[in-house]
Amino acid sequence: MELKQAIESRTSVRVYKQDPVPLADLKEMARLASLAPSVASSQPWKFVIVTRKELLQDMARKVLMHLEKIPPNESRAARNVISQVEWFATFFQNAPALIAVAMEEYESVLEKGVVMDHDEINRQRNYPDIQSAGACIQNLLLSAVDMNYGACWLSAPMMVKDTLSKMIGLEDKYKLIAFVAIGKPENVPAKKPPRSPEDMIKVIE
Ligand SMILES: Cc1cc2nc3c(=O)[nH]c(=O)nc-3n(C[C@H](O)[C@H](O)[C@H](O)COP(=O)(O)O)c2cc1C
Repeated sequence: MELKQAIESRTSVRVYKQDPVPLADLKEMARLASLAPSVASSQPWKFVIVTRKELLQDMARKVLMHLEKIPPNESRAARNVISQVEWFATFFQNAPALIAVAMEEYESVLEKGVVMDHDEINRQRNYPDIQSAGACIQNLLLSAVDMNYGACWLSAPMMVKDTLSKMIGLEDKYKLIAFVAIGKPENVPAKKPPRSPEDMIKVIE
């Protein structure tokens, strides 16, 4: 598939056929994701591939338990909002596969030569660690499209990232960034119309 076609056809798929995704395909998606640019060329990634149904369900249960503890506000929309978020945060339990994307701390070139700690440099640089993770996850999504899978990026479950990290046996040196749920699409949602480029692009010549 042409890159342009993959970019244009990618959409968040949240309902999947139950066909298993071959491990070789999942590993290939992770490999392609790992080729993304990363701050200080640190390649800080760790990918945890989960296909064990019971584990996915246990993880979703933990996410749900957390959401249920958050008090609703007074708005009329509260009930709808909460049930929508519960779905967005837990549908991964029905995906044939999930890739958890985690990363370890990078060491910036600057911190080797100045009196400023890593966290402050990272903050001043606008969190290049998280920016790197975004590039990696986008590579993962586009690789899934290229291999005729549907996928969806999830950050909502990260509200219980410490619990989830333990459940997937992530070593302490890695921090969990996001999940990507993957499977053959059962239905593909209509895409929101894109904003016009004129609205978004400013040119300084
Ligand atoms: C950083 C990030 C976090 C996201 N987290 C979630 C999530 O937790 N659950 C979910 O269902 N979708 C999540 N999405 C998917 C967005 O809702 C989706 O990309 C957006 O609605 C646009 O739709 P499209 O991907 O089909 O173009 C996330 C996307 C991004 C970029």
